[in-house]
Amino acid sequence: MNLKGKSFLKLLDFTPEEINYLLDLSAKLKAEKKAGTPHRLCEGKSIALVFEKNSTRTRCAFEVAAADLGMHPTFLDPSASQMGKKESIADTARVLGRMYDAIEYRGFEQTIVETLAAFAGVPVYNGLTNEFHPTQILADFLTIREHCGDLKGKTLVYVGDARYNMGNSLMVGCAKMGMNFIACTNPKYFPDNALIEECEKIAAQTGATLKFTSNTDDVKGADVIYTDVWVSMGEPDGVWKERIEDLTPYRVTSELMEKAGAQCKFMHCLPAFHDLNTTVGKEIYEKFGIDCMEVTDEVFESERSIVFDEAENRMHTIKAVIAATL
Ligand code: CP
Ligand code: NVA
Repeated sequence: MNLKGKSFLKLLDFTPEEINYLLDLSAKLKAEKKAGTPHRLCEGKSIALVFEKNSTRTRCAFEVAAADLGMHPTFLDPSASQMGKKESIADTARVLGRMYDAIEYRGFEQTIVETLAAFAGVPVYNGLTNEFHPTQILADFLTIREHCGDLKGKTLVYVGDARYNMGNSLMVGCAKMGMNFIACTNPKYFPDNALIEECEKIAAQTGATLKFTSNTDDVKGADVIYTDVWVSMGEPDGVWKERIEDLTPYRVTSELMEKAGAQCKFMHCLPAFHDLNTTVGKEIYEKFGIDCMEVTDEVFESERSIVFDEAENRMHTIKAVIAATL
């Protein structure tokens, strides 16, 4: 397997074998980190971390992974740089590509990260766009492997807003890995038809299945119930009312977990609105009178919740992507 020089922009660009290779490498690097075995595989190299949206996990994962690999990271906040305002994405890519060995980008349209990759001349990694969040899926799949075993044949039910970066990427990932993907939500929030068609073609080759339903009884037998925030970064505050009305029936509650069965785990990419300990959570409570959104505090804090293993795995999997491509 040779992924040297390759960008990591979306899972559609990778074969199931390549994804498995990255997961195996992640597990190896994780075991080494736990054992205190150094793995400075990219000694002396440097990486630019460009964030046009906020982040806790992704930024920290890239910074810690880079340090463990012996690299130097630079964090760039575009509000304080020329990018996009005085300098085009293509020009920025060519400048960064002359100084850095790799570039991470988090921001808006997928076309931006694709343009960066086309012009940089070095590997570019997608740290989240509106359409896709591929490094998150590697962490999710490593976590599922750890808790549930082999990915093939496992059933992942995505509830909530399935037409944004997380729903899209999980559907692609499940199709690639021969899993059963179910989007269980209000039909307004099903993924885009063109992407569904592309995933159906992949599924036909891998043995995966895709299902789109609004009936919560369809969670029965799921290995994982997965959700994400109802309003994503960059979306206007004005959509909250409609989202709450449309998606409250698809909140992850203890009843929903019971319906799925005792084997079912709860996953969330985080951050999550499960209590009133956030500014936004409090504002929503004052406006709409709800004390949680996509998941109840009871489920979030339960034994079935594996969200913090998932968050930790962001670092091990991002490290594998960097090590494999440099
Ligand atoms: N899951 C995730 O991408 O988290 P951050 O927004 O904190 O990076
Ligand atoms: N859908 C969320 C994912 C955050 C990791 C967002 O884009 O804000």
